Amino acid sequence: MSLFGVLDRLSEVSQFDAKLESARTAVNKVLQPQAFRDLLHGTWLGHPLHPILAMVPVGTWLSAGILDLLPPARPAATALIGTGVAASLPAAMAGAADWSEQDDAVRRLGAIHAATNVVALGLYVGSLVARGKGHATLGRVLSYSGLGVASGSAAIGGHMSYAQSSGANHAVTDARQLTTDWIDLGPLDDLPEGRPALRTGEGQGAPVALAVVRRGARVDAFINSCAHVGGPLAEGTVEQVRGSDCIVCPWHGSAFDLENGEPRRGPTASAQERLEVKYEAGRVLGKLPNRHVSK
Ligand code: FES
Repeated sequence: MSLFGVLDRLSEVSQFDAKLESARTAVNKVLQPQAFRDLLHGTWLGHPLHPILAMVPVGTWLSAGILDLLPPARPAATALIGTGVAASLPAAMAGAADWSEQDDAVRRLGAIHAATNVVALGLYVGSLVARGKGHATLGRVLSYSGLGVASGSAAIGGHMSYAQSSGANHAVTDARQLTTDWIDLGPLDDLPEGRPALRTGEGQGAPVALAVVRRGARVDAFINSCAHVGGPLAEGTVEQVRGSDCIVCPWHGSAFDLENGEPRRGPTASAQERLEVKYEAGRVLGKLPNRHVSK
């Protein structure tokens, strides 16, 4: 079994789920209000914030490891380690916010990712204390140990993103499947007013589900699979969120602006894939922009 196959096995271990649920409840209580959570998710940015913030401790600690090899540069290494320690708090908060609204497998691996990060942080704090007390060699041993643990933790985080699709846009897979021809979404008059309806479009091998909302003579159409973790938007609601009419996912409450698919409330950090719409002889037609064409 590959090293990362071991991580997949660990993500199946369910014995600690009750404890993880308690941790999730605590995170959700502490990280309030919703606007603060959305700041941490990166909803305002259109991109998950955690991997961006995590670059700071990873980058500073790696740079400190290089400077520690050059004796005249060691004071600068200590300054970089301190910067990384300070930057780890916002990175951890953003990671915790994302972690609390993922599926069980991601949460299990995320708990290991968090625990190894805490170990790495402890080693770096110990390194700073040792350096401050004049124990330079011990300080370097502790920081290199921290770098090893932090690198392992970063690999786990990468596996969560690439193998478990944590933080990925879950609507894009369906968008790639969907035909780029115009799709007949049926008569305008058959669509219910002000709530999502399920329609399908031709995909490569299987139909692709679409969520369609009618407001009077206007129709907005989206890939049904929510960008956050793939929840069914057609089973959601239409609500005003932060001044915009939005389609709201039934799973974790992400809200996407009906006008353009931009996220107005997290946990999603990605916009929802939206179709162009036109009307012909009382029927509604939708078409995905060409950006996801796969040959
Ligand atoms: S799947 Fe999480 S908000 Fe839609």
